[in-house]
Amino acid sequence: MICNDLSIALAPILARYDKNQIVVVYDQNITLPTDVAGLASHSVYGLSVSETAKSLETVSLVWDFLFEKGITRRGLLIAVGGGILTDLCGFAASTYKRGIDYVNIPSTLLAMIDASSGGKTGFNYHGLKNSIGLFAPPVATLIWPQWLRTLPPQQFLCGFAEMLKTGLIADQCLWSRLLQYDLDTMDIDALTPLIRDCVAVKEQIVAADPREEGIRKTLNFGHTFGHALEELSHTQATPLDHGYAVLYGMIAELYLSVVKLACPKEPLQQLTQLMLHAYGKPQCKCSDRDPLIALMQQDKKNEHAEEINCTLLQAVGQPLINQLITPQEAAEAIDYLFSI
Ligand SMILES: NC(=O)c1ccc[n+]([C@@H]2O[C@H](COP(=O)([O-])OP(=O)(O)OC[C@H]3O[C@@H](n4cnc5c(N)ncnc54)[C@H](O)[C@@H]3O)[C@@H](O)[C@H]2O)c1
Ligand SMILES: [Zn+2]
Repeated sequence: MICNDLSIALAPILARYDKNQIVVVYDQNITLPTDVAGLASHSVYGLSVSETAKSLETVSLVWDFLFEKGITRRGLLIAVGGGILTDLCGFAASTYKRGIDYVNIPSTLLAMIDASSGGKTGFNYHGLKNSIGLFAPPVATLIWPQWLRTLPPQQFLCGFAEMLKTGLIADQCLWSRLLQYDLDTMDIDALTPLIRDCVAVKEQIVAADPREEGIRKTLNFGHTFGHALEELSHTQATPLDHGYAVLYGMIAELYLSVVKLACPKEPLQQLTQLMLHAYGKPQCKCSDRDPLIALMQQDKKNEHAEEINCTLLQAVGQPLINQLITPQEAAEAIDYLFSI
């Protein structure tokens, strides 16, 4: 639910629980507004989040807090923060006493668009991202775009990359509206209807395929190359944010869509322009090409060893899942991306 007034949206949900059975876990980097639905007057726990702290240890801190506050199976956990916090809290709530209700209040654009809906929860384990987790949807996700006022521009752009992905897989109209959005001003009011429509696309896809067996894989557009770029960058001096990696991944996958599926060139040209204007070029070297291909061959989305599985587009709004690409084709797409 997108809300102008978080208090009004939250009040009917809170009314369903005993006041002493409600806890709030929030990201310490944000300030909990004291005037919102008495949020700050409940039992509150501030967590320090990072990908390295997206761990079993942090999940157990949340469990400990729930025990300490005497939360029963009729309790409610409200998670306020970015995708790391909502993923962790969703997992902690869904496993505590075999599962209690939780509400997501995402505070980053990426969490609003992607992480806080769709029911995936979890944490990193043995260095593998999100390798332990559950599908366990929240009872509600309340999107209050005013959080974005304090979000650093780089984080804003990360979320916007996932919105661009949604537009590309959904339809030409949404894609065109996203291209018209002014990334120089990052106006929140102009963004709000776009957030609403992108979330609606994700919700529809997830409702049709909650366990990612078919159409939900379209949401992975840009992510085969994107994950490899992100992973490789973390072994180098300049780690790449997920959203930037996905944007670069979409350029590589749009290139392959043109070459292999005769997708029109226009979306590739439009996304390339937008990248140059707002995100900048990827900082990669020719010697990165082979490690990137090796990482893509190990991707957990592949059903057979060595093959590279991608979602590609026949046109904007016409994604095709399970497209197999050869290492040579992958190399060509990487060369294209690095040559821009
Ligand atoms: N469950 C899913 O379906 C799903 C989908 C996509 C991503 N994810 C997960 O989401 C995570 C990334 O989420 P993210 O990009 O929100 O990262 P994040 O949670 O790390 O937040 C990014 C940064 O912004 C800060 N922050 C949060 N809200 C803020 C605000 N309003 N103002 C200023 N700073 C603020 C955070 O403290 C953090 O430093 C990853 O762990 C990823 O695996 C999950
Ligand atoms: Zn993503």
